[in-house]
Amino acid sequence: MGFMSENKNDFIIKTAVLTISDKGSRGERKDLSGPVLEKMITEVGGQVIEREIIADEKKEIQESLIFLSDKKEIDLILTTGGTGFAERDITPEATIEVLEKEVPGLPEKMRAATSKITPLAALSRARAGIRSNTLIINFPGSPKAVEECLESIIEIIPHGVKILKGVVTEHNHNH
Ligand code: MTE
Repeated sequence: MGFMSENKNDFIIKTAVLTISDKGSRGERKDLSGPVLEKMITEVGGQVIEREIIADEKKEIQESLIFLSDKKEIDLILTTGGTGFAERDITPEATIEVLEKEVPGLPEKMRAATSKITPLAALSRARAGIRSNTLIINFPGSPKAVEECLESIIEIIPHGVKILKGVVTEHNHNH
């Protein structure tokens, strides 16, 4: 059975959506991107059990990532925002410092695939990786970017999480 035919209901992906935005955290901007991530991941077996909106502060971001992965035992953390060139954008740096293993292929795929839609895709410095049993993936901040980027990798996320959790091993599939 290949990853495309895995039953999406046979395994729930405990998911957290972390919106990283100074304005969002102060209530000055409505978070439209977090709900896009939530809707899309729910369609492939994700269940969003934690939602946070925090400022572009390295320490705060790291505290959230560590809490969600170590204490809440979340399988998947999707972050949105803070991946660009603005002075306060610090999400990628905050993320890689708490990762144990980096997974470069996911942001590589997001940028490569979505560059066909907009050349601005290359301006996101998003990173991804693993901390204990948790997969952490950065996304850019806009709802449009989030939708395009998640769409480009969504079919492979459940399989990656299953391997991470030991639900499937690398050897019991045939693709
Ligand atoms: N990626 C896709 N697929 N579509 C987009 O519209 N916007 C880009 C880029 N990635 C975009 C995208 C823009 S304009 C910026 S500034 C960077 O993501 C960083 O966004 P962030 O600072 O909100 O994280």
